[in-house]
Amino acid sequence: MLKQSKLEHIKDSNISVLYPIYEGKEVCSKIRHGLGYELNEEVNRELGKVTTIYTLGKFPFQSITFVGLGKEEEITISRLQKAFASLIATNTEKEYVVDIRRAITDDFDIHTVTTIFSESQVIGNYEFTKIGATAKEEVTYEIISPVDITADIEKGRIIGEAVNHARTLGDMPSNYMTPIDLVEYAQKLAEECHLEYQILTNKELQEMGAGGILGVNLGSALEARLIVLKYNGDNDAPYTAMIGKGVTFDSGGYNLKPSASMATMKSDMCGAANVLGAMEIIAKRKLNANVYAIVPATENMISGEAFNCDDVLVSLSNKTVEITNTDAEGRLILMDAITYAQQLGAKRIIDIATLTGAAVVALGNSYTGTFTNNEMFYQEFEKAAIKSNEKVWRLPLDQDYHDMLQSSNVADLVNSVREGGGASIAACFLEEFIEEGTQWIHLDIAGTSFNAKCNPLANKGATGAMVKSMAALFENE
Ligand code: BES
Ligand code: MN
Ligand code: ZN
Repeated sequence: MLKQSKLEHIKDSNISVLYPIYEGKEVCSKIRHGLGYELNEEVNRELGKVTTIYTLGKFPFQSITFVGLGKEEEITISRLQKAFASLIATNTEKEYVVDIRRAITDDFDIHTVTTIFSESQVIGNYEFTKIGATAKEEVTYEIISPVDITADIEKGRIIGEAVNHARTLGDMPSNYMTPIDLVEYAQKLAEECHLEYQILTNKELQEMGAGGILGVNLGSALEARLIVLKYNGDNDAPYTAMIGKGVTFDSGGYNLKPSASMATMKSDMCGAANVLGAMEIIAKRKLNANVYAIVPATENMISGEAFNCDDVLVSLSNKTVEITNTDAEGRLILMDAITYAQQLGAKRIIDIATLTGAAVVALGNSYTGTFTNNEMFYQEFEKAAIKSNEKVWRLPLDQDYHDMLQSSNVADLVNSVREGGGASIAACFLEEFIEEGTQWIHLDIAGTSFNAKCNPLANKGATGAMVKSMAALFENE
């Protein structure tokens, strides 16, 4: 829990003071004189280094925890996040008073720094609670500020919690996160945030002709759903649709994945999870925008009913698709969702999907692969990504890839091509369903959405990639 407080409130001997400190800065004289010894040398000011000093009754709080911020001129959002996260990881007390003013610079005012602290505290404390286990005990942070920072604390909390909710969905095993579980989560979110929503069932998808979603769904014992949430925060702005791939488990289908690739495929709905996370931020912060969140949800499984290689599916747009690989299923459910978004009147589309292994090969776990048909829209998005400290890298769309996809003898398109450039080919497949005048960005998060192992940069499991960037696109500041 995070709240604002004034200095006089530190009277409880169980409280510890958190003191961020830049290189070259002296510890404030009140503390040095009060403790009666020279502690400047003892405090490690390197980025993320934590030093705890006990006050031994000389102050009305029991200890001071310094966290190094490194060189002031080198500070960035990501360095602040890193420092605050390491603080949170080394917590030993239940209650802290945070002297946030020590982290302020010319570029980062108290509001910005407070939001980053608040968000880091929430995200840093994420822990996927194993089925049946209990959650960690909560730590309280009181931030000292001469000005009102309650809105900044709240903003950081909303963003951090939405990212964590998206991570929880991605970390959930597929038998606990079926299409129906996703629907229930989305409905609860919609009710909590007063959003209109629509849930389309198999029967309705059949009536409208969403052959892509239904084709992928054939092998599953569980029905598919198309989830639509609508946020109206602006009277006359055109709608933007965020579309997230919701394959709750991807076995590959008859083009079965080998064992090593099938593990972690519970995370093939991270696009869906992250769209719902972004919608949560947009709605809870009451951003000035009109937005749809659209999630096609199904498993990709095997059975006597499953779709097969050489089959032809008829999409919602009426374009036909020859299946050359049942494991290229994401694009088949997204094509229908993209068409549906345009039927609803969306003028801008961002789709986000764990779409291709090729994106992982190209960019690893660090960068989200991005594609667009509109430079202006992309520039706006890139600004939002930089502000959110999420790394993106542009990859090309090209007529050459479209030509490869238009090589079927029996349909308008094939769903996969056995050649290089898999991430671009998948993107161009989606572009086939973008209509004249629709601005579009495609995010391939196959590498950034889920970490199979702990690495120095991130925890194991779902990351909530692009939740913050997508929401930040709708900020007016
Ligand atoms: N869900 C996978 C992509 C993926 C791979 C996500 C690794 C996360 C980690 C997607 O459905 C898929 O299987 N793509 C195929 C496409 C191919 C058959 C054209 C791939 O990338 O191998
Ligand atoms: Mn697949
Ligand atoms: Zn997939």
